[in-house]
Amino acid sequence: MSTSYRPTKMILTAGPSITDREVEYVTDAVKNGWNERWSEYLTKFERTFADYIGVRYSMATSSATGALHLGLLALGVGEGDEVIVPAQTWVASASAVTYCGATPVFVDVERDSWCLDPALLEAAITPRTKAIMPVHLYGNPADMHPIREIARRHGIRIIEDAAPSVGALYQGTHTGALGDVAAFSFQGAKILSTGEGGMLVTDDEAIFERARKLNEHGRAGAGFLIDEVGFKYKMTNLQAALGLAQLERIEDLVAKKREIFGWYRDRLSDIEGLRMNDERAGDRCIYWMSSLALEGQFATDRDGLIAGLRERMVDSRPFFPAVQRMPVFLDETKRMPVAEHLAENAINLPSGHNLTEEQVDYVATQIRELLGA
Ligand SMILES: Cc1ncc(COP(=O)(O)O)c(C=O)c1O
Repeated sequence: MSTSYRPTKMILTAGPSITDREVEYVTDAVKNGWNERWSEYLTKFERTFADYIGVRYSMATSSATGALHLGLLALGVGEGDEVIVPAQTWVASASAVTYCGATPVFVDVERDSWCLDPALLEAAITPRTKAIMPVHLYGNPADMHPIREIARRHGIRIIEDAAPSVGALYQGTHTGALGDVAAFSFQGAKILSTGEGGMLVTDDEAIFERARKLNEHGRAGAGFLIDEVGFKYKMTNLQAALGLAQLERIEDLVAKKREIFGWYRDRLSDIEGLRMNDERAGDRCIYWMSSLALEGQFATDRDGLIAGLRERMVDSRPFFPAVQRMPVFLDETKRMPVAEHLAENAINLPSGHNLTEEQVDYVATQIRELLGA
């Protein structure tokens, strides 16, 4: 495809897909979702989401960060414990561990999947390791079979940070149904958006009841009696109305993300030294963010690419800094070669639902020109 398309405004990295269904449900919730109907959308969204993922229990929350915090507490993570977290993730994964008084222990990621490297996992386990938190980065499932096998052998629980991975499948099973408990995000840029929001999911009734109590300020029963300090990470019925409408369209939303990645792949995958998102045989990556890692010599480096794209009206995002290099978690003794390489050499491309093939064609042409490829 070669067109004379020129953008008149910045092509953004994200953006939701909103149809009449979302408008209808939210309007109904605003008008009628009060008093005896205050939680109708919440209940339906939670039930439909649990069924979609293939788990028994779900609890809508105000964010994935909140769901991770509750999930960790429900696993019994506390003072003095360690939780293994990949070094390439959003800081929320590690922050949730510190909220519990525990310590995140960082492990490097795989060069192809960009997710926790199972080959490095065992060396990071100590007698204090309470849980492992694989992250399904940018919607690509972490390699859960070996992670589960190691966790089982050591008697360690798994909390999946499934924040960016609604709809992703690992060998036929949804992310979120592969550990003891999991958290999804519906923040504004995500594949399924409620503006801000999240979901805790689990198959374990005891974990669910514990998380639910903690999210009720530690309420002991039906009344106002509180017997421990809890939290309040609640989603509103209004957001749930939006979420339900999005969830009813989720397979179309996934198909669009996969189509966008396919457009990029068709135009860029022949460039030597350029790595794109991976998809393991038998998995379904949802390509929340179509991404590139520069692994060869090009006419410009990653930051030059971001700046050049911006001048040409194309927004892009650098990968997250390696978490153990962030001032808040700085550990000079720990090197994570893959996570650190990605942090300096990889970007997320425009991946919003409303992108057209013409726009992707334009972006890919600019990337080729800037890289001299
Ligand atoms: C890997 C990962 N974990 C956690 C989060 C946090 O999600 P939320 O913003 O809903 O708290 C995000 C959000 O981008 C994420 O990408």
